[in-house]
Amino acid sequence: MLKLDACCKTYRVGAFGGGELLAVNDVSFEVAPGEVVSLIGESGSGKSTIGKMILRLLRVSRGAISFEGEDISALEGRQLKEYYANVQGVFQDPFSSYNPIFKADRVFTMLRHAYFSGVSTSEWNAKLERSLDEVSLNPGDVLGKYPHQLSGGQLQRLLIARALLLDIRLLVADEIISMLDASTRIDVLNLLGELKGRGLGILFITHDLSLGNYISDRTMILRHGRVVEMGATTRVFDNPLHPYTKSLLASVPQLHTKWVALGHPPSRPEDEGVETGGALVEVEEDHFVLSATSEVGR
Ligand SMILES: Nc1ncnc2c1ncn2[C@@H]1O[C@H](COP(=O)(O)OP(=O)(O)O)[C@@H](O)[C@H]1O
Ligand SMILES: [Mg+2]
Repeated sequence: MLKLDACCKTYRVGAFGGGELLAVNDVSFEVAPGEVVSLIGESGSGKSTIGKMILRLLRVSRGAISFEGEDISALEGRQLKEYYANVQGVFQDPFSSYNPIFKADRVFTMLRHAYFSGVSTSEWNAKLERSLDEVSLNPGDVLGKYPHQLSGGQLQRLLIARALLLDIRLLVADEIISMLDASTRIDVLNLLGELKGRGLGILFITHDLSLGNYISDRTMILRHGRVVEMGATTRVFDNPLHPYTKSLLASVPQLHTKWVALGHPPSRPEDEGVETGGALVEVEEDHFVLSATSEVGR
């Protein structure tokens, strides 16, 4: 359904022309219907850049992104609108998606103008109620309120409901539960699980390994814009092979382990040596690791 083929993104940085930062380097993967793919990496590893390129908020510098076989860089006007009827994103900070001076229902009004102008008010209200029900929200509790009167969890669920109204096929979820309380997190995770069951493809972007492990079918570990390991989630987590993945997994405190027993995680592979060379090698079925030669870096 969604396919990234050797995607790169360079940012111009610094004043007076400055230099270039290769934020995403040769990233390829696919998301199928009903599949949750997690993109895991530390802050600054390029996760959001990938999400934004998929959502066409940023252009790819090299490589291509296609949806149902069609290159999304070429989409314009009506076709782009159609793309957004299939692919939507929800981001980390729900407050940034709302204008504080408008009530929460404004995000739906704008959607109605864009996509449902021919739909009668009663039909629209029924649709709206149904999508709010799907995310366990009561219209009366949320629609007439200003963003500051709602919790982060409610705002996030409203944004998911908005995406669901469009009957999307792919959701780019960029750290959507990082800012939520533990109990609300579980609600949103369960909701994503349900949506997956109905065929929604999800790119689940997170810096939290345990969330990735919990929710995803496939996992990609991103470091300095490069995928260092990817494959079936069980394979990557049960048998991590790249030194970086191993060090990340060793840094996760276990629920039943006392602090004193933890010690320091093993040191990370050389941070200066950004992996520019090498290639992903399939070491077992559906488990790819960036080849050792690339570890030499520059
Ligand atoms: N608009 C931008 N201009 C220049 N550099 C950027 C821009 N956006 C992100 N970056 C840089 O690109 C890298 C990846 O950023 P990002 O994709 O936001 O990472 P993540 O979401 O994994 O934290 C970081 O080094 C970041 O500073
Ligand atoms: Mg980010």
